[in-house]
Amino acid sequence: MSTLQRFVLMWFVSTVRALQTTQAPPLVLGDQIIKSVAAPMVAASDYAFRCLCRQYGVDLTYTQMLHAKNIVRDPIFVRNHLDFYECGIVEQKLVASQQLILKDTTVRPPLPSVTATKGPLIVQLAGNDPTLVAQAAQKVFNLHPQIAGFDLNCGCPQAIARKGNYGSFLMEHDNGKTVCDIVRSLRQAVPVPISVKHRLATDPSQNISRWRALQEAGVCFITVHGRTLYENKTAVGPCHVEWSQKAVETLSIPVVANGGVERFQDVEQLLQNTGASAVMSSEGLLETPYLFRDDPVNVKDAQFQVTRDYLAWCIHFPPLPGVLGPRGSMTVVKGHVFKFLHRYWSQHEDLRDRLTDPSVDTLGQLEGVVDELWARVSEQDDCESVSWYRRHRKQRTKVEQVPVVLSADERKAQIRERIDQMRKDQKNVLRLSA
Ligand SMILES: Cc1cc2nc3c(=O)[nH]c(=O)nc-3n(C[C@H](O)[C@H](O)[C@H](O)COP(=O)(O)O)c2cc1C
Repeated sequence: MSTLQRFVLMWFVSTVRALQTTQAPPLVLGDQIIKSVAAPMVAASDYAFRCLCRQYGVDLTYTQMLHAKNIVRDPIFVRNHLDFYECGIVEQKLVASQQLILKDTTVRPPLPSVTATKGPLIVQLAGNDPTLVAQAAQKVFNLHPQIAGFDLNCGCPQAIARKGNYGSFLMEHDNGKTVCDIVRSLRQAVPVPISVKHRLATDPSQNISRWRALQEAGVCFITVHGRTLYENKTAVGPCHVEWSQKAVETLSIPVVANGGVERFQDVEQLLQNTGASAVMSSEGLLETPYLFRDDPVNVKDAQFQVTRDYLAWCIHFPPLPGVLGPRGSMTVVKGHVFKFLHRYWSQHEDLRDRLTDPSVDTLGQLEGVVDELWARVSEQDDCESVSWYRRHRKQRTKVEQVPVVLSADERKAQIRERIDQMRKDQKNVLRLSA
């Protein structure tokens, strides 16, 4: 088959598939149609990073998960987390951690993009008490009425979320009943859209009923992260995108598909295969913030350019420390710079050690380390194989390789899942060999 024939065949197959796929309604916030979304990320969704993402084509950003209880009861938590400059608060008194990182900055570069300073922002809340979560939303809304909406975290798989009964554990705990109560409570409390971001049910037969209940409770849209709570960290595995498609077929509200997006063509493919309204990315964006725009011709140039842009954003808007303590702002910045340039640090461990050295605690010093790295690698060939995104994805992708943080019930569910998978695999083998 010639290249042209192959191209025509591929085009035909993808067009037929697109025509067969049910399409979710568009996600519209204010007057903006949302197609690309930067995920909520603890210690990584700082305003500087949100601006960077918008600069490179992201339509909607989130705050990191914020505990409702802390917002309501802890003024220090509020001061160290609420960086909602999108809502017009540009000049704010710098806290000590932010001041520290600007100590040796004398010149402010121009903003990388003025338009990227604004854009819809969703605040993600965590909690399990409908009254408390509503109080937190009310408090945030009263401070920042330009917020585009509130999201409830129903995806956090960490042991601390199990202990506190929030995130994915809240959803599993009573099959979404409390989550729906919280959604109703939020709808009464604030006049902006409410959404839920969740992981797949450990018992897959529960997904559809959960979605229907959420829609009935009044969510404006849902975000489906196509993994269960066991498919996490080193056991992250492939994303089950077919469930996003099922959500689109089941619901009449917009659906955002999340999980497994590494590069530009994954975004297009995910939209096409699922019919989702938008795509959300987290780990992909953390390393390549331009992934919604295009694949770059020169990865190295692109990675260093986003690093420099991010540092410029940080000079204007140094990240708040969050819960990371007196050096928290620098920890956030270093975390981003580490991921942008991951493939180059691993070739120059002495510079990576300087990056992680606590005595490197200002943006000026950090720029110096980045400059030195650039001086060393600018003439070298690129090596894509050691990207940060691929760090857990090279070998260990199976669900059974989960770290030991599971309760007895979770283990049982996991074993059931594995048996189901083995049965399916066996059927496939039989079908293929028939
Ligand atoms: C550093 C980091 C922090 C995260 N924090 C949150 C969070 O605060 N709230 C949340 O709902 N998900 C959080 N997640 C999960 C992501 O939002 C996303 O659902 C998940 O990484 C899957 O998307 P991906 O395959 O594009 O990475 C976090 C992920 C990472 C890597």
